[in-house]
Amino acid sequence: MRKPALLLLAAATAALLIGCATTSATLSAPFSGVASLRGADAATPDQAPAEAKAYSGRRPGSQQPIARTYDGQPPLVPHAIDNFDEITVDDNQCLECHAPANAAKKGAPKLADSHLGADRLAVRMERYQCNSCHVPQVDAPPLVGNRFAGHLKAPSAAPAR
Ligand code: HEC
Ligand code: HEC
Repeated sequence: MRKPALLLLAAATAALLIGCATTSATLSAPFSGVASLRGADAATPDQAPAEAKAYSGRRPGSQQPIARTYDGQPPLVPHAIDNFDEITVDDNQCLECHAPANAAKKGAPKLADSHLGADRLAVRMERYQCNSCHVPQVDAPPLVGNRFAGHLKAPSAAPAR
């Protein structure tokens, strides 16, 4: 009983090895001549520019909102956020301007009602980490062209100040 089982295992291993070798040989053929951003060889060093681009916004209050391109899009952050403190459980600087109680006085758009609890004042914890959805912008040319066009034709209305 033992011997046939061992033989079977050996045969299966050999078949697997041969299978792998043939698959990689047949796979590489149709893709030869295809170049990625790294070049034709996958091991080529990354061609992306090494220097980090600065975010393009200036201090809050000096730019227009960025037009949204689809319904339900979290609006992009038009202003700089580099100088703000990191969001922690006790400190969220974004709320100093965007919380319902502060927005009008700071001249900032009030965060959406979807972000608030039943009292319409406190931010729900699912919406507390603002920058997991709202991102600042860099003025960088796309590395690869694309034809994305949003379905919202007109820029969304400027939020109430
Ligand atoms: C000092 C006040 C202030 C702080 C702090 C602040 N903002 Fe703003 N924010 C503004 C103002 C004012 C605008 C309107 C655009 C402008 O003038 O830059 C704005 C615009 C926005 C918008 C665009 C809204 C829209 O409808 O298009 C988003 C998103 C936003 N801020 C997110 C954030 C996030 C995230 C943080 C924290 C990292 C933050 N803001 C911190 C004042 C502030
Ligand atoms: C889970 C994703 C998410 C998080 C986290 C989040 N937002 Fe939003 N935000 C959105 C979306 C999506 C919208 C578009 C309106 C809507 O449907 O809620 C929005 C809208 C806004 C607006 C524009 C309001 C308007 O009337 O058009 C502001 C300002 C804003 N958010 C600020 C913030 C701030 C400040 C925080 C952190 C306290 C935050 N958001 C956290 C997704 C998010």
